[in-house]
Amino acid sequence: MCGIVGYLGPLNPKDVILQGLKKLEYRGYDSAGVAILHDGHAKRIRASGKLSALEDKLKSETFNGHLGIGHTRWATHGAPTERNAHPHQVGGVSLIHNGIIENYQEIRQELLSKGAEISSDTDSELVAHLIAIEVEKTQDLELAVEKVLPRLRGAFSIVVIWDQAPQDMVAFKDGPPLVVGLGDDQVFVASDVQALLAYTKKFIYLDDREIVSVKGSQVQILTSQGAPVVKEVVEINWSPEMVEKQGFAHYMLKEIYEQPRSVAAALEPHIQADKHEVQLSTEGLNSESFQELLKKTKRFCIVACGTSFYAGQLAKYLIEKLAQVPVDLDVASEFRYRSPLLEKDTLFMTISQSGETADTLAALRLAKEKGLQILSLCNVKNSTIDREAHIKLYMRSGPEIGVASTKAFTSTLSVLSCLALQWGKVKGLLSQKDENDMVQALLAVPSQLEVVLAYDKYFKEMAHQLRNYRGFLYMGRGLSYPIAMEGALKMKELAYLHAEGYAAGEMKHGPLALIDHRMAIVMLCPQDQWYEKTFSNLEEAKARGGEILALGSGEDESLKMKSQYYLPLPKAHWLANPLLSTIPLQLMAYHLASELGYDVDQPRNLAKSVTVE
Ligand code: F6R
Repeated sequence: MCGIVGYLGPLNPKDVILQGLKKLEYRGYDSAGVAILHDGHAKRIRASGKLSALEDKLKSETFNGHLGIGHTRWATHGAPTERNAHPHQVGGVSLIHNGIIENYQEIRQELLSKGAEISSDTDSELVAHLIAIEVEKTQDLELAVEKVLPRLRGAFSIVVIWDQAPQDMVAFKDGPPLVVGLGDDQVFVASDVQALLAYTKKFIYLDDREIVSVKGSQVQILTSQGAPVVKEVVEINWSPEMVEKQGFAHYMLKEIYEQPRSVAAALEPHIQADKHEVQLSTEGLNSESFQELLKKTKRFCIVACGTSFYAGQLAKYLIEKLAQVPVDLDVASEFRYRSPLLEKDTLFMTISQSGETADTLAALRLAKEKGLQILSLCNVKNSTIDREAHIKLYMRSGPEIGVASTKAFTSTLSVLSCLALQWGKVKGLLSQKDENDMVQALLAVPSQLEVVLAYDKYFKEMAHQLRNYRGFLYMGRGLSYPIAMEGALKMKELAYLHAEGYAAGEMKHGPLALIDHRMAIVMLCPQDQWYEKTFSNLEEAKARGGEILALGSGEDESLKMKSQYYLPLPKAHWLANPLLSTIPLQLMAYHLASELGYDVDQPRNLAKSVTVE
């Protein structure tokens, strides 16, 4: 979704804004622009396409002011052209916007009837018009924003500056995230902290319908009616290096390679390594109280989107198996509109890497209104979902820049495995030995992942063969089923190829008809309780001419004989298999997409943080 950067301070705003926008590229965008003060007016430069196009245009431009805003736009209303790119300018007001104004039709009609000249197809420009009208009357940007805010419906974060007030910058939000960065005699605003880490580690997170009013180096946070709000200043410990590529061709590849470390980091707070015991560590509720809560919980409800939803599916299988608690699982966009029946004694969980996904957030709020306890699992601490949940767990995978999730997914699986273990333990359903075995199995995963990363070379070499397939069917049973769906999602997102994840037992109910020699069958067949059944499904696919790429445990000769390609994964406990089979699927999609010449870090049409529904 769109990226926002605003700057007021002694540095060159052009450099600060461009640096910030580059760090927000991962969010997805299709045009970009800046407005920076020069000789008393905000000079606007915009370009469609990549940020490099804007950068080229800016090379010859100089600015003598110290205030500016910049934006990467992910088109919603209006095509991704220069004319629709932000900032929008009306009567000395320059404005950038992330999100959607739902009542834009009504505002547009009103403005047109008053003779406004509207020069783009966007909803965002209309807000600039409204503010320009009010600022003419009030001669105060903050007051103008207070007048306009109640008129806006939808999801938005907005930053605005005005030529007449070169020391003022005003920002406000309702929905998409906005942070304020505090430096020495300088103030920043941005869509997320990554844009600003090179300049500051001190941030204020805005809540919905709050306004930031910056006057020189003074920052005030106000309610939508203009009353001051006291906010916590949060220090972030991510370093700028953590978001650099560090020699890898793409962020995604770097993030795939980080998984031995990120899985270890995800497990670390929840495991007492010396005793081989699980000890889940939550924030918002201490361990003992959380264990009490687990003990009395009758039902568990998990809501998430995309990759996080597939992780939720694994959690459902694990929790039902280890803790014998019924688990409902929903895609957030369905859950929020389908009149779900939420009973008391249900613990409600949202899984969201970004912590900002609009549908997941709406589901959380719905469950909260019904009085349920909310447990969240996020990667981004202080994200909206993290702040609104009662009990918090963290993925701890560090910043993930590649739009297609990799390390955050395996971190999610790791934490969810610990949750299932803890739940089984408090319910007295796990023997000491089972607990020790499973904890050891999880602790062994980071070093086993190092071994699995060797498939990097393998897939690099076979990518040109894989490109001949017209589609990919990923099959698995039990714990491998969510991984099959995640593998297929990676292939769709990155290589733009038809790929489906299926429960292998469902094959004969339809998908078998798809099979021929141009359909690759990716069979997840580790040695677990589902092995024999999956093996039979593999034979069915082979008998119909399917080309099999199988992932199994160790040197499995029977699987090898049945497959065109066989990938031995380290032999492991069943609990560890989903983590081990994920990485080859990520590498396969990555190398095929690279072979096809696609932008791996920023696949077309996708955004990292989906802040509108
Ligand atoms: C795919 C991917 C998405 C996200 C989904 C939800 O690689 O990353 O499917 O999982 O958009 O995002 P979060 O987890 O941030 O709520």
